Amino acid sequence: MTALTLSTAAAPGLRADAIVIGVAKGAKGPVVAPGAEAVDKAYDGRLAGILETLGASGAEGEVTKLPAPSGFKAPLVVAVGLGAEPEKDAGYDGEALRRAAGVAARTLAGSKKAAFALPLTDPADAGAIGEGVLLGAYSFDAYKDTAKDAKAKNGKAPLGEAALLGGKPRDAAYKAALARATAVSEELNRARDLINTPPNDLNPEAFAAIAQAAAKEHGIKIQVLDEKALVKGGYGGILGVGGGSASTPRLVKLSYTHSKAKKHLAFVGKGITYDSGGISLKPAGHNETMKCDMSGAAAVFAAVVAASRLGLEVNVTGWLALAENMPSGSAVRPGDVLRMYSGKTVEVLNTDAEGRLVLGDALWAASLEKPDAIVDVATLTGAMMLALGSRTFGIMANDDAFRSAVHEAAEEVGEPAWPMPLPEHLRKGMDSQVADIANMGERMGGGLVAGLFLREFVGEGITWAHLDIAGPAFNEGGPFGYTPKGGTGTAVRTLVRLAELTAAGDLG
Ligand code: BES
Ligand code: MN
Ligand code: ZN
Repeated sequence: MTALTLSTAAAPGLRADAIVIGVAKGAKGPVVAPGAEAVDKAYDGRLAGILETLGASGAEGEVTKLPAPSGFKAPLVVAVGLGAEPEKDAGYDGEALRRAAGVAARTLAGSKKAAFALPLTDPADAGAIGEGVLLGAYSFDAYKDTAKDAKAKNGKAPLGEAALLGGKPRDAAYKAALARATAVSEELNRARDLINTPPNDLNPEAFAAIAQAAAKEHGIKIQVLDEKALVKGGYGGILGVGGGSASTPRLVKLSYTHSKAKKHLAFVGKGITYDSGGISLKPAGHNETMKCDMSGAAAVFAAVVAASRLGLEVNVTGWLALAENMPSGSAVRPGDVLRMYSGKTVEVLNTDAEGRLVLGDALWAASLEKPDAIVDVATLTGAMMLALGSRTFGIMANDDAFRSAVHEAAEEVGEPAWPMPLPEHLRKGMDSQVADIANMGERMGGGLVAGLFLREFVGEGITWAHLDIAGPAFNEGGPFGYTPKGGTGTAVRTLVRLAELTAAGDLG
């Protein structure tokens, strides 16, 4: 993992492999962003012109490399695009800094140390740049058995150290901002590791064991219900979905508590370690990335551990509904009726609509503790992906104010999200001839239908929001900003922010 440091050193004397500066899109061409004054001066104030000559415009995602001016200890200057220059007197927004830092950190893979001379005026800026660096430097190479020295030769080892210039190393607020960025990013990167781990290695039992080890390390209470305990408890949804797999399901409960907590949040994550579709088997072309179907559980797990590392004054319970959805002689069939943990019966019309079944049980289990609010996170429907694309998650809720609060928290941390409705008329499409409800309804608005199904398993009077992250959970395209290819860790930062806001008494 990349190390973050704060430095008061001046750019010229810095021993580093590169100096990162920002370039923005100005009205009349590229402009050098604040923070790089010393660098610009060493080029006799001609840096903007030099960058323009090299083809730089300041657009987001752009990288321009140039040799450092003479007299500099570092050999290389890396200019990263920040997008449009902010209005006079307005600063660069956190997300622009986070993305630019992420692009730079990824570009500098293989380097030992880089100095970041980006615009940095307050601790929040330092936190954003720090997060961008740690998230952008991420790479998943657990299965590429290249020896360490080979990795270094290929330039593939993550950036070793990022020294942020302009911050105050002895200022408590700056130190706290970097500590927060480190805790959140490390746990988010761990969620990415879990998502990227192939499903033959990450089954429900393995996921539960990893949660157990982390809980022990961080003093979080944990309870793991194995198949036997699930049968005893009557968790028909989780058992039904997990029944077709040689790897048995688990329900994991992580409880982080703080003695000064006034509120209790419950996070519930969909943890299908592989979604083949079951007897309603997915065709080739739709199953290659289905190891990502536990991204919700990974996000919940990461958020609870991060809340604990940050010592937030709020109680947070994380529920991981873990199962593998496979077809076999013991698999649930289309036509079967399951009795859920809540007592409701569900007619399974499509075994590929399995997420709502495991979540139904976990939402009910979470509800029995009467938390102040429940937020579930799930790669639930392809329909949500069709609606919002691959970078934005949908937010549904049984409370308008809470949905807005979750949306605001997501915006604040730089996670694109959008509110979606739960239209009452779609409920009747799930009416079943034989059971209380069917697990499928109208095809149109499939993401909303799934949300309406989940709502039936939230306890009376409990505030609830549902995040359908099917689009942004797994990046099948190229890397961008601080987002790598593969598992993204989306929703982790929104959940952490919700816990912080709740601890501060600013939510609910
Ligand atoms: N895990 C999938 C949803 C999904 C699709 C996630 C693409 C990520 C990318 C989910 O279990 C599923 O199969 N949903 C079905 C529901 C349908 C059968 C009602 C879907 O969306 O097609
Ligand atoms: Mn499915
Ligand atoms: Zn699924």
